[in-house]
Amino acid sequence: MAERKQYYLFANWKLHPARLAEARMLAGIAKKRANRCTQVLTVICPPAIFLAELAARYSSHRLSFGAQDCFFEERGAFTGEIAAQMITDVRGQYVLLGHSERRALGETDETVAKKLRAALAAGLTVVLCIGERERDEEGRYLAFLEGELRTALAGLSRQKLGKLIVAYEPIWAIGKGAESAMSAHEVHETSLFIRKVLRERYGEKAAFAVPILYGGSVAPENAATLVRDGEVQGLLVGHKSLDPRAFGEIMATLDASL
Ligand code: 13P
Repeated sequence: MAERKQYYLFANWKLHPARLAEARMLAGIAKKRANRCTQVLTVICPPAIFLAELAARYSSHRLSFGAQDCFFEERGAFTGEIAAQMITDVRGQYVLLGHSERRALGETDETVAKKLRAALAAGLTVVLCIGERERDEEGRYLAFLEGELRTALAGLSRQKLGKLIVAYEPIWAIGKGAESAMSAHEVHETSLFIRKVLRERYGEKAAFAVPILYGGSVAPENAATLVRDGEVQGLLVGHKSLDPRAFGEIMATLDASL
């Protein structure tokens, strides 16, 4: 088991909210609640256009900010892209990479691997998202997860692992009610499998230091069970992170769980 000093609570706002004023309101409430926590580090990943403003105004010792994606080049003729260095320049400290919703738009494992290198080189901590579309009786989804991990990490040295977090998000469990989240037992099994792949590649010590998160229909009613019985080091929350009351409850629950 990785040593548990704290839980990570990531908020992936995706393409919400529609207005900066609402983003400020959500971040302001999150900051107050996050600062009351002693065991949870909260990280909000808003739409990139809101990142600079929110990170400047609301960052604290318990609340950080990150981006939902970045490009693999530092500069050039790449219309619409954002470089990793631009994220750090506006106080973003994290980036989600390989989210299934980006992969659904055409991102490949190889592109994720290039982005990962660029983000680490810029000093960002990377949350590498992996997850199968569906589960099959024969366990082919395990080979799929292993492939996503190994390709993203190809050629990455052990020294770089200190800034890596792996988020396991089974696609079939995303965007639904709490009852559709994966069972804590399955989360535990899968996190053990991810840990095994990392161990084979990097050895026991380095592999066990990589935090593993779960994401997919996380809600106040399942958050504590998922981290405790799922033996993960945190959660990646989608739609419930836009509901201040639910997100505050998830924070408080995690803080009381360690
Ligand atoms: P939901 O929490 O809405 O299921 O989204 C999960 C997710 O995709 C977070 O990255």
